[in-house]
Amino acid sequence: MFSEVTNMPGNWDKTEWGFRLCQVLEIRYPILEGGLAHVGNGRLAAAISEAGGFGQVGSAGRSPEQFAEEITLAASLTTKPFGVNIPISERKDNRPYFDVIHQHRRAIAAVSLSAGNPRPLIPQLKEMGLRVIVLTSTVSQALKAAEGGADVVVCEGFEAGGHNGPAEITTMALVPQVVRALRERGRDVPVAAAGGIASGEQMAAALMLGADGVQIGTLFVATEECEAHPAYKRTLVEAGDEATVVIERSQGRVTRVLRSPFTERILDLEKRRPSMEELLPFIVGKSNRIAAIEGHMDEGYVNAGQGVGLIHSVRSAGEVVRDLAAEAARVLRRGPTWAQWLEGVDGVRSV
Ligand SMILES: Cc1cc2nc3c(=O)[nH]c(=O)nc-3n(C[C@H](O)[C@H](O)[C@H](O)COP(=O)(O)O)c2cc1C
Repeated sequence: MFSEVTNMPGNWDKTEWGFRLCQVLEIRYPILEGGLAHVGNGRLAAAISEAGGFGQVGSAGRSPEQFAEEITLAASLTTKPFGVNIPISERKDNRPYFDVIHQHRRAIAAVSLSAGNPRPLIPQLKEMGLRVIVLTSTVSQALKAAEGGADVVVCEGFEAGGHNGPAEITTMALVPQVVRALRERGRDVPVAAAGGIASGEQMAAALMLGADGVQIGTLFVATEECEAHPAYKRTLVEAGDEATVVIERSQGRVTRVLRSPFTERILDLEKRRPSMEELLPFIVGKSNRIAAIEGHMDEGYVNAGQGVGLIHSVRSAGEVVRDLAAEAARVLRRGPTWAQWLEGVDGVRSV
């Protein structure tokens, strides 16, 4: 099963930190594409997988037929493993999407489940021979996912683009707490850090926090293969550190989007504590699609994470994957210097 993994050092232990994610998903680099509503197309997923990461076809914003088409397209463009994403509570009935997954189970390596209780769905997917990735935003969710049989746990912090957990825990704080909790309970599940990661330095930092790899959303939107409208990509390139805002808090939800005149209107409306009926026309998927796919940036909203200020150009997805890995490796080489220096400080002992 793991014979295609090519980047492993000779004598490695399967539970060794840092390699488990590549082993489980049979990928070269521990870099996952997150599910991307409306813009997570098959061509992008294939390009990421072809470069050695793990691409995923999004189901949100697509009919079951369109979802199937994008899976077929991805499978025609790469022989490497890729996955699909199901945000559980985004629609009332996921069965047609599960039927598509079942039909394409030989082309798909894993399914990521988000936005809902994954536990009843995990056994079904495993029976299809698929691995299951579960998105979590608290320690208790991560433990439940691991206990329920998840093969990979993604820890998504509050910096992330799109829907976030209501506890609003940042990636920096969440990842080490999840890693420790899983270790203390003897759960040998690889962890991917997500939220705000858009550079090799951040990938290196995630690995130092104990993650086995990263999941990325916003940075992959700003790629040539992503079907997002050029206006969306351009706005991501131009955006700085203060470019994102959180909408939907008035409804107990947390959605990180790019600040724009349209999202300012939403925030103004939310100050008046609107009913869901009043807010709905602004936050429905159609309002996302109008901006993200059709490029009418003033008539809808687009998702983006806080790392957006680190995106400076639109590149190919393969270049993004390879640069992230190379940059992370370069930054990690600084590690021994810091260790040597800290251990040389009076009173610091090795632990
Ligand atoms: C445009 C966009 C759409 C997203 N749609 C989904 C989705 O449909 N399902 C899901 O699980 N996560 C979704 N997310 C979250 C991503 O999968 C990923 O976890 C997140 O983007 C990571 O944070 P980052 O954007 O800072 O890299 C979306 C994020 C973005 C930016």
